[in-house]
Amino acid sequence: MSPIISVKNLSKTYGSGFKALNNINLDINRGEIFALLGPNGAGKTTLISIICGIANPSTGNVAIDGHDIISDYRAARSMIGLVPQELHTDAFESVWATVSFSRGLFGKPKNPAHIEKVLKDLSLWDKKDNKIVTLSGGMKRRVMIAKALSHEPKILFLDEPTAGVDVELRKGMWEVVRALQESGVTIILTTHYIEEAEEMADRIGVINKGEIILVEDKATLMQKLGSKQLTLHLQNKVDAIPSTLAAYNLELSADGREVTYNYDTKGDRTGITSLLSDLRNAGIRISDLDTKQSSLEDIFVSLVRAP
Ligand SMILES: Nc1ncnc2c1ncn2[C@@H]1O[C@H](COP(=O)(O)OP(=O)(O)O)[C@@H](O)[C@H]1O
Ligand SMILES: [Mg+2]
Repeated sequence: MSPIISVKNLSKTYGSGFKALNNINLDINRGEIFALLGPNGAGKTTLISIICGIANPSTGNVAIDGHDIISDYRAARSMIGLVPQELHTDAFESVWATVSFSRGLFGKPKNPAHIEKVLKDLSLWDKKDNKIVTLSGGMKRRVMIAKALSHEPKILFLDEPTAGVDVELRKGMWEVVRALQESGVTIILTTHYIEEAEEMADRIGVINKGEIILVEDKATLMQKLGSKQLTLHLQNKVDAIPSTLAAYNLELSADGREVTYNYDTKGDRTGITSLLSDLRNAGIRISDLDTKQSSLEDIFVSLVRAP
C-alpha cells in the first residue's frame, strides 16, 4: 500500500540562516504509530510544522495521501489533526464550544454526535460545559486532542504529547492513542523520551541535527542493534579469568564473584553453551545467572554520539 505521508528531499533553512532540516526523506505507513525520536533541537517540531502546513519548506515536498501540502493545501490539511507542543486554548470558552469551533475551521458541517463521541472517548464529556480555564493541565491537554480530532482526521500528530505530564496521565494518553490507531487513524508522535517510543511505536525514526539517522521497525531496531549481557554469579571467588577462557572476553567483577559476558542477539550462535561447559572444565561453578538486553536508550545514545 502507498504511504499515507511521503516526505521527499525536504530541507528547511530558517530566516536566520540556520539549517534546521537537511534532506529529509520519510514515508509514513497507513495505520501505524510512528515515533520521531530525537533530542531537543533536533528538528522534530520543524518537520511536523512543515508537514502540517504551518511552516514552509525551503526545498523538497510533502504529499499527504497524494495531496501536495502546498499546491493542494486544503485537501492535505483536512486529513491532519495536530496537537501542538505548546498548549494554547481559548481559556474562557467552554470545552464544547472550543471543540465544535475547531471542526468549523475545516469547513466541515456540524456533527454534534461526532463531537460527543470524541469528548466521551477522552473522558471529557462531564466537563463539556466547563470553561477551559477551570480544567486541570491534563484535561487541557485532552481538550487539545479533542480539538485535533474534531474534523475526523485520518492522521494525528502529537508533538511531545507527554512532556511534563505525570505518569498516570501519560498512561491514559497512550490508551487514547492506541484506541485511535484501532479506529484506523495513523499516528505520528514526537518525543525525546526513549521509553515513550519504546512503549508506543510500531516504527521509530531517529532524528538528530536535522537529519534522519535511521528508520526501523521497533522490534528490528531492538534486535539489530541490541546486544545482550549475561552475568554469571560464581559459587566461589576467583582471582583471574583462566587463560583457557580468553576468547570469550569475559569481565570479572572487582570482588571476583561475578563474570559478565557480552553476546550478540543477531548472531547464529550466542556462545553461551560452550561458555558454560568451558567454565565447568575450568572448575568454575555458577550459583546463579541473569541476562540484560540493552535498551533503546543505549542504542539511541550510541547513535546520537556517533560521528
Ligand atoms: N523560527 C525559527 N527561527 C530560527 N531557528 C529556529 C526556529 N524554530 C526553530 N529553530 C531552530 O531549529 C532547530 C530545531 O528546532 P525544533 O524543530 O523546534 O526542534 P525539536 O522540536 O526537535 O526540539 C533548533 O536549533 C531551533 O533553535
Ligand atoms: Mg519540538
